[in-house]
Amino acid sequence: MLIKELKARIIKNSRNENAIEVIVNKKYVASAPSGASTGMYEAKAFTKDVKFAVNYLNNFSVHYDFEEFKDLEVLDHLKLIIGGNPTIALQYAVLKAMSKNKVYNFLNPRAKRLPIPLGNCVGGGAHTKIKASDIQEFLLIPEAKTFSQMANINRNVYDMIGKLSKAKHKTDEGAFILNERNEDIFEFLTDLVYEFREHTGYKVNFGVDVAASQFFKKGKYHYNNSKQKVLTREKQIYQINDWIKEYNLGYVEDGLEENDFSGFAKLNKKTLICGDDLITTNLERLKKAVKAKSVNCMIVKPNQIGSLIETKKVVDFAHKHGIKTVISHRSGETMDPMIAHLAVGWNMNYIKTGIFGKEREVKLKELARIEREII
Ligand code: PGA
Ligand code: ZN
Repeated sequence: MLIKELKARIIKNSRNENAIEVIVNKKYVASAPSGASTGMYEAKAFTKDVKFAVNYLNNFSVHYDFEEFKDLEVLDHLKLIIGGNPTIALQYAVLKAMSKNKVYNFLNPRAKRLPIPLGNCVGGGAHTKIKASDIQEFLLIPEAKTFSQMANINRNVYDMIGKLSKAKHKTDEGAFILNERNEDIFEFLTDLVYEFREHTGYKVNFGVDVAASQFFKKGKYHYNNSKQKVLTREKQIYQINDWIKEYNLGYVEDGLEENDFSGFAKLNKKTLICGDDLITTNLERLKKAVKAKSVNCMIVKPNQIGSLIETKKVVDFAHKHGIKTVISHRSGETMDPMIAHLAVGWNMNYIKTGIFGKEREVKLKELARIEREII
């Protein structure tokens, strides 16, 4: 597959920020999202700005016959010139062109497994400007046989939360904002999933993305909306393990700040202890986390590292070392459903892509469609 025509343009993401869209050979369209609670070790989204990247790509040509996934490496050098986001958008578009939009089959013709959807239902932190919970995301973990059932369960519980809480505002990812203490939200969700099970028979667990680096300042964790206000590192470790036990959390992402590999190792591994800002989809950081036994789970966001080739290496290394993988959207999302394909093609365990909003639902719908194709 040759790139005969390459076009780039500026589009708006779900947060109304400028994002980049790339079109290869008139038909194959792709774009990259942007984060708000970005880790300090992430690749730069844009080296200069989106306009510079758009101009660069509109004048870029590459004479190469793209046939296999590994050929995308030819484009990796662009990350340093224009940034991680335009490079990812271009690699997505080329991958779509190589596979004629059948990305997941192209990545793995024997792909059979759908990921479990983690549903962001209540949130705050860096994903809103109004007063909210310190914890960035409260996530539903549904139990059911099929992906479609699990996505429906998430949506039903989400609608129940909307009705019961009468919340008026939502975060960037479409989760309800409850201006309540973290512990009160845990209580609320505990009762709610109990009720849901009584009525429907479906078990739903829940977990959190604490995104702790966002409120870690001068060596301490500063809460606004919690029983405790300022916690030392030791107390934060105790707090997270205590929440896991008290509320039976099935998943905790970034419970500690992004440099505390040894602190992560002290978190209760009976639950999924997930690293996002800790690892930033970076192989060297993942190796460090494996060595220190920091995590048993990790977030995968291709634009954190700015290369699909590097992303794949990270996923393979994680699976080889028994680390569960969660492919994830960003808070500033686009309509590109690519992460749905990567989740299936790379046999990932979970997907975090929200419950509500067209940019989130397009990924869930794509997975439901893939499920119908596979089964
Ligand atoms: P971001 O946050 O997309 O705003 O970086 C998502 C997350 O922390 O998981
Ligand atoms: Zn996160």
